[in-house]
Amino acid sequence: MTLEAGKQFETLLRYLRDNRGFDYTGYKRNTIVRRIAKRCNELGLTNFGAYQDYLQVHGDEFAILFDKILINVTDFFRDPQAWEYLAKNIVPRIIDKPGLIRIWSPGTASGEEAYSAAILLCEALGPEAFLRRVKIYATDLDEQALEKARTGYTEQDLEAVDEVLRARYFEPLGGRSAFKASLRRSLIFGRHDLMQDAPISRLNLLICRNTLMYFTAETQGRILARFHYALEDDGYLFLGRAEMLLMHGSIFEPVDLKQRVFRRVPRPPLRERLMILPQGGNSEDRDHAGRQIRFHELASEASPLAHIVVDALGNLALAN
Ligand SMILES: C[S@@+](CC[C@H](N)C(=O)[O-])C[C@H]1O[C@@H](n2cnc3c(N)ncnc32)[C@H](O)[C@@H]1O
Repeated sequence: MTLEAGKQFETLLRYLRDNRGFDYTGYKRNTIVRRIAKRCNELGLTNFGAYQDYLQVHGDEFAILFDKILINVTDFFRDPQAWEYLAKNIVPRIIDKPGLIRIWSPGTASGEEAYSAAILLCEALGPEAFLRRVKIYATDLDEQALEKARTGYTEQDLEAVDEVLRARYFEPLGGRSAFKASLRRSLIFGRHDLMQDAPISRLNLLICRNTLMYFTAETQGRILARFHYALEDDGYLFLGRAEMLLMHGSIFEPVDLKQRVFRRVPRPPLRERLMILPQGGNSEDRDHAGRQIRFHELASEASPLAHIVVDALGNLALAN
């Protein structure tokens, strides 16, 4: 890409963020440049500046662009070996601990990953304990993909699910196959933006596969710091096959590197904790905000009273 094209591209990303609230500035450039360039070609536009002009007069183009950029490819038990490892080695440790089991699958696309986790847990616990103990939060930026998770799958979508499990966990619904209604209330689907929204907390298992890889290293770092905060001390992080945590050894340690299963390292250094801060502002603002947060943390930790802070959605945001 020429320098001029690069500049136009960054201007386009800022335009999308500031005018439409679609923030792609944290995504790796090679993938999104390729996708937007392809869209320009389809429209017969020769540069990113012309595409920005096009967006200004064609309001419906934003939804098309959104669709082109987000890749929803997924499957049940994608990378079966890794799921087998999870079933054999991690699920027993999670269910051994008494109490609720909280799982989050961000970037879940159309939900296959979340239902795969539900099947493993239900196989291990039995349906009664599953319903009593398990909550699986499945989120994505893409509402359309989530709608499929809610409404059901075609026979082809279910090919990767073993026939016995298919009969046990799916039932016909309006010409499709949906996860059994009697078990479905343990799963909650909702829109969540990994770059901007507060994480779901107190997790025993966080499954974020084939999603982090679309973000720049800096954005990945910020998301991982939030994941660290979101997990219980002995919580597990399950990543996709192509994803590594080379630079984040201080907050996650591998349980099985090949299968991309990591464990949370308790109490991160302050630097990582400050990465939980929202994006934006200059470094002076961030330093100031970091100091403020540190003061609040110290004051809160020194207080003899217990504090919890809950956000508008009822998620635990802070606790001393
Ligand atoms: C390739 S799919 C991965 C699906 C599934 N986790 C798997 O491994 O099979 C990537 C998903 O990440 C979602 N995604 C992209 N940016 C996101 C963001 N900022 N917040 C939440 N989800 C995002 C996309 O909509 C897409 O559904």
